[in-house]
Amino acid sequence: MKPDFKIVGHRGFKSKYPENTIVSFLAAMDFGVDSIEFDVRLTKDRQLVVTHDHTVDRCSNGEGLVRDFLFEDIRKLDFGGWKDSKFAGTQIPTLEETLDAILGKDPNFPLLVELKEDDDECTKRVYDMCLKYNVLEHGLMLSFHPRQLQLLRSWNPDIYLQGFPDRYIKVPQPPEAFNGLYNKTCLWTTDAKPEEIKFYHDKGVAVDLCPVDNEEQLEIAIPLDVDSITTNAPDVIYPLLRQRGLR
Ligand code: G3P
Ligand code: CA
Repeated sequence: MKPDFKIVGHRGFKSKYPENTIVSFLAAMDFGVDSIEFDVRLTKDRQLVVTHDHTVDRCSNGEGLVRDFLFEDIRKLDFGGWKDSKFAGTQIPTLEETLDAILGKDPNFPLLVELKEDDDECTKRVYDMCLKYNVLEHGLMLSFHPRQLQLLRSWNPDIYLQGFPDRYIKVPQPPEAFNGLYNKTCLWTTDAKPEEIKFYHDKGVAVDLCPVDNEEQLEIAIPLDVDSITTNAPDVIYPLLRQRGLR
């Protein structure tokens, strides 16, 4: 890992809190992660909500596609009790509530805002919201949908964008992927190789490694020249880093 590597809290503090909820984000900040990543989706009435999966099944007490729920109905679901009864009653947050909560605590806190929808109008609204909250001064936007990154780049030559290698996505990266479209990419810990990290660095593209949640994954990460690591378990990783003099 680079000497100044950063630590990204994946969906907040995912191992101990219900992912992609305000309580998870605030806990990750309190723990001291350098930045927080979260996922944005659309409801049926096109409200911007923060959740990872395309269904509500895994992370709530409901069933069905996020995009089939009206906002007022998805808000009735419990997005916390599945993780632990002490989180029962936690609601799915909107993008605006997420930004208010995190940036209300620290206006300069770096965020990684992932566009889960391949939807131009959604991307524009998320982008506008990020501008309104100054997210792009310190953070980045990312997506598995190259078209959305191309749109963002067409609107803003200076925005910091994260993409993914071809093998992780359904639509191949456009030719300009390594010529100004992406500033950063993300490799899975299971298949990151030094040659590939060098390939990206030679093109000026930073590299994140995800996930780094335990000692075995940290031992893979340490010798690699990555710019950041993404963790679900900061409570496990920080003590291991401290033992090694890396934090
Ligand atoms: O930044 C990496 C990560 O957020 C992408 O994977 O599936 O958690 O959205 P996923
Ligand atoms: Ca994500």
